Amino acid sequence: MKVKKAVFPVAGLGTRFLPATKAMAKEMLPVVDKPIIQYAVEEAYEAGIEHIIFVTGRGKKALEDHFDRSFELELTLKDKKKDDLLEMVQKLVPETGTIIYTRQNQPLGLGHAIWCARDIIGDEPFAVLLADDMIQTQGESVLARMVNKFDRLRASVAAVMEVEKDQTDKYGILDADHTEDRLYRINDMIEKPHPDQAPSNLAIIGRYILTPRIFEYLGRKTKGAGGEIQLTDAMKMLLKEQPIFGYQFRGRRFDCGDKAGFQMANLAFAMERPDIRERLLKFIQEIKSEA
Ligand code: G1P
Repeated sequence: MKVKKAVFPVAGLGTRFLPATKAMAKEMLPVVDKPIIQYAVEEAYEAGIEHIIFVTGRGKKALEDHFDRSFELELTLKDKKKDDLLEMVQKLVPETGTIIYTRQNQPLGLGHAIWCARDIIGDEPFAVLLADDMIQTQGESVLARMVNKFDRLRASVAAVMEVEKDQTDKYGILDADHTEDRLYRINDMIEKPHPDQAPSNLAIIGRYILTPRIFEYLGRKTKGAGGEIQLTDAMKMLLKEQPIFGYQFRGRRFDCGDKAGFQMANLAFAMERPDIRERLLKFIQEIKSEA
């Protein structure tokens, strides 16, 4: 079965970005000129995803409006003959009925957010994208590569990368054996272990392809790290009956849930833009010489 559906948990309050996120969804913060969420949605489409499932919460209206038509805006752009911009905003809107919104009405954790999408996913493999994790790659995106891995292995796959040893308490950490080029067979995993307890420094990054069997374990609603229902814990249980692989992607990852990470993402993605690059480089030189 092909991976056609992707879940985007977007119910978080974004407290780390207050006051910017007081009245605005954190996923709508722009990196250069695109909201963070749009990068993730574009990555999903590029990987062959056809159905987008947003697990939202209160205060996410702007996110819904972003992926919907805006007749006033389109009319204005048409009148002003701004055809490029018109095409750009029209392209943002997927075919009616292919975006589904459901709400996570209690902040019980990532595992719970994914579980909220169970009836929409049904009995199919699906992708999960955490938009906060932005990954800059050369060529094909991380999710597209993971879909290929899934098609071959017919087993769940999580994106992984090595992190600093003292950072393990921010991630799901693997105990895994390297099998082939960039692929690990996972033996065990633990959510946010203290560096002393971490089985490795191989961390899960926010891209997953999961079999629907995961819902059995998410449905148990076992509380884990931070008192939250963790996706990692459900995957750990799933491991007892199905293999799960870690895919060590090539690329640069930015944690946009973190203030410094968010600024770095802006800089890195701006550097890809010929219209901005030179001015930015010049400015960096300037402030570097002042520092
Ligand atoms: C979540 C997952 C964690 C993963 C991380 C990647 O944690 O629970 O396993 O390593 O995303 O960004 P969060 O960052 O939501 O605390």
